[in-house]
Amino acid sequence: MLEDSPSLMTQIRDKFAHVDQCPFEGPRIFFENAGGALTLKSVVDTSAKFAAIPDNQGRDNPASHALVNIINQARSDMRDLFNAQEGQFFVGESGTELLFRLIRNAISAVPKEGQVMGSSLEHPASRSAAMHWAKVLEKPYISVSHDKDTGSVDAAAYAALVTPQTQVATILHTSPVTGMGVDVAAVSKAIRAVAPNCFIIVDGIQHAAHGLLDIAAYDVDGYVISPYKMFSRHGYGVAWVSDRLTALSHEQLIDGPQENWEFGTRDTGSYATMSDVVDYLDWLGSEVSVEKDRRKRLVAAGQAIKAHEKMLSDIMLYGKDNLKGVSELEGVEIVGGLDNPRREGLVSLRVKGMASADLVSALRNHNIRAHVRKDDHYSGNILTPMGWTDCVRISLCHYNTSAEVTSLLSALAKIVKQ
Ligand SMILES: Cc1ncc(COP(=O)(O)O)c(C=O)c1O
Repeated sequence: MLEDSPSLMTQIRDKFAHVDQCPFEGPRIFFENAGGALTLKSVVDTSAKFAAIPDNQGRDNPASHALVNIINQARSDMRDLFNAQEGQFFVGESGTELLFRLIRNAISAVPKEGQVMGSSLEHPASRSAAMHWAKVLEKPYISVSHDKDTGSVDAAAYAALVTPQTQVATILHTSPVTGMGVDVAAVSKAIRAVAPNCFIIVDGIQHAAHGLLDIAAYDVDGYVISPYKMFSRHGYGVAWVSDRLTALSHEQLIDGPQENWEFGTRDTGSYATMSDVVDYLDWLGSEVSVEKDRRKRLVAAGQAIKAHEKMLSDIMLYGKDNLKGVSELEGVEIVGGLDNPRREGLVSLRVKGMASADLVSALRNHNIRAHVRKDDHYSGNILTPMGWTDCVRISLCHYNTSAEVTSLLSALAKIVKQ
């Protein structure tokens, strides 16, 4: 457990910017990690360093060679982080843009007769892309319904609807509204049992910061993350694509290299900041294990993160010492229920008789930052089937502490009592 050693927790927190102070508001506890995790200080320094370098890649001068080497190093670091021996990594404008690009290219390149499949759990980034391009290219879109009680979707639900004509399928790894994970390997296995050549594209944006990434185990063709939700910064997204997907005809510059996915001049700083993220997780792995192998240290870091976040969310749900957990507070309802092993560091709840926006404001008065989710185009797919119009999302990361969670519980107890 990360908190078993107070000095380790201090070291972890010291590696992040604005860990307990908002530059605009002052002291605050940050439980808005699903809106964007805290940024590593190393990422801030690296970003400033590369923002000042005028040189471009592909020239014969020392600066240009250095930039290319840094990009190659970042790609190799990402191989370790994602556990991807094949395929390639590239950056784009955002997670949403990359999901659109992979899904658009896959749907446009497969033969005309066939279907596209996805689930109602998905964020609109992948759902909109798949539905839009299925419509444009006149393919039926098969919608797998998620389970509103578990806040997730199982392989069996995909298995019930997949057909040999399913050419492209999308999977959400973790929902940013329910906080529940999906067993991606099991879903892809269920799809491939019926449609072995299906192109499977995964939205890993919410999952990435909360444990392990293991492309080799998933058997998929695309995996997208948003680095600002994984301790890096805004301004870019990262995609991994399988060699199979690259071999399909995809958008690129005329006569350019066939395997290229990048559009335009690359920002070396975005790649370099991914190396910072991997270096940080590698350091964390070396603090919690004696592993000599880098991937094994990254796995150890992922396991420690998972265990710590489970400990924090259990305190939030069930309380600690004489402090009541949210499950014991009068009128509090929790998305996805209490005893849900799929939970990844996020609790969405509402208080009966209180608008969620008011609860977020009340928490703000206690210096706690959380976020409201409404039944709009981002979260309506989850909230509407439950008959809810809104909820408050409290989202954790491994640098949050049990003391921060108990402060939240004290604040909630006061607010609910009022
Ligand atoms: C699961 C998921 N998919 C997609 C997105 C959109 O990501 P971006 O805004 O980086 O494009 C988010 C954003 O929070 C998300 O949580």
